[in-house]
Amino acid sequence: MISESGIELRPYFDQFRVQAGNHPGGESMRALFASLGEREQDKALRYFIEDAVQKRPYLDSLCFANLLPRAIQYELYFNEHNRKYPEYAKEDWDCFFDDLLDPDNQSRPKIQEILERNRNNTTIIERYLGPKLVLKKVYPNRGIYIADFGCSLALGVRELELGNGICEVEDKTEDKITERLSKVRLNIVGGVATDREYLEDKVDWVAACSVYFNDIDRLGFLLARHAFTKRNSGIDFHQADMLDLNLVAEPNNQHARDRYQIKKGAYDASMVLTALYQLPDDDVFKALTNLRKATKPGGVVIVQDFFGLEEKSLRNRDIPSIPLESLGIEDRRSIVRYQDFYAGEPYRTLVLRLDKDQRFNRAWEVLRWNHARCESLSAGSDYAIFMEENSRNRLRKAS
Ligand SMILES: C[S@@+](CC[C@H](N)C(=O)[O-])C[C@H]1O[C@@H](n2cnc3c(N)ncnc32)[C@H](O)[C@@H]1O
Repeated sequence: MISESGIELRPYFDQFRVQAGNHPGGESMRALFASLGEREQDKALRYFIEDAVQKRPYLDSLCFANLLPRAIQYELYFNEHNRKYPEYAKEDWDCFFDDLLDPDNQSRPKIQEILERNRNNTTIIERYLGPKLVLKKVYPNRGIYIADFGCSLALGVRELELGNGICEVEDKTEDKITERLSKVRLNIVGGVATDREYLEDKVDWVAACSVYFNDIDRLGFLLARHAFTKRNSGIDFHQADMLDLNLVAEPNNQHARDRYQIKKGAYDASMVLTALYQLPDDDVFKALTNLRKATKPGGVVIVQDFFGLEEKSLRNRDIPSIPLESLGIEDRRSIVRYQDFYAGEPYRTLVLRLDKDQRFNRAWEVLRWNHARCESLSAGSDYAIFMEENSRNRLRKAS
């Protein structure tokens, strides 16, 4: 059914119903979506969605379903000091939405404002286990410089640098990569963390984004880890849009919070985790090109996101993808975007290697994750060859 404004609302309700069935954030999150999914005829909810989408067309069904529970959590936890919502059943959410959709409700404008302005600024420490394993394999002991693009609060990359344990995952690889590489020392000697948003004054919002309702105890833990890592890490934060990087040969002011601090061809590894999925396809290509320019010849770009490597012909032609050949890599596969965040193993760790002339020359799909919370990992389609080639390279370098 198309609304009076001409916005097709069906996809929003379909999305609520899908998430009611498979959202990994626990019973209460699924109940919230179940309550929304049953309100397709509710004029007040239809108007609420329509109003948000008219003001911000960016809010497609997936984006709306992503932001709304986070906005609700932010309001309930930080403003109303409610600690009961992680236990809410569907009936509780029914009452909650009856109240919220009342035009005089006090929380409503605050939630609307978040929907109009904010983005999903999750910060998840566990995600950085993917780059950690890759870096241990590629650079087992020499000192390296790293750059993180789209870091949110810079928490994950600082945990990586400080060497804190990020390792509680179910490892489904045959050779148990997490155990095999656990003794390898990662030697990060410096780097930068960048995001297009400066989030230090929105730390509560980042925490509300990062924690599902069923894991609410982690909220305080995250805030404490952020304070600790910020104090102890040598990695500086620089505000920068990865689509508009102004790479310089020499930094002139180490502590300025501006975008002129990111160096050209300076990082052994440039990484981008769970940020490319927020960009349109043309911008994904541009971002990868910019990350390549920031990376040292012979270095690697690590992409961990809702993307895999596939032969395009095997899949529906409508699925957005970037042919590896368009990046200069002799490989018939494409970087393919997965749009269902919770089905299969849609979240993956890809590695793109640069040659000595700073051009991309190799791509591997190394790891697959159960979802972007990174609770369980298995081998990607190029896992074995990545392991073998990187062991061989090392032997060659050593001889
Ligand atoms: C979902 S968060 C992920 C944060 C962190 N990398 C992680 O995986 O936990 C995505 C971040 O990417 C940032 N981002 C999106 N587009 C960006 C761009 N063009 N340049 C820099 N950062 C961007 C957003 O501001 C947001 O903080």
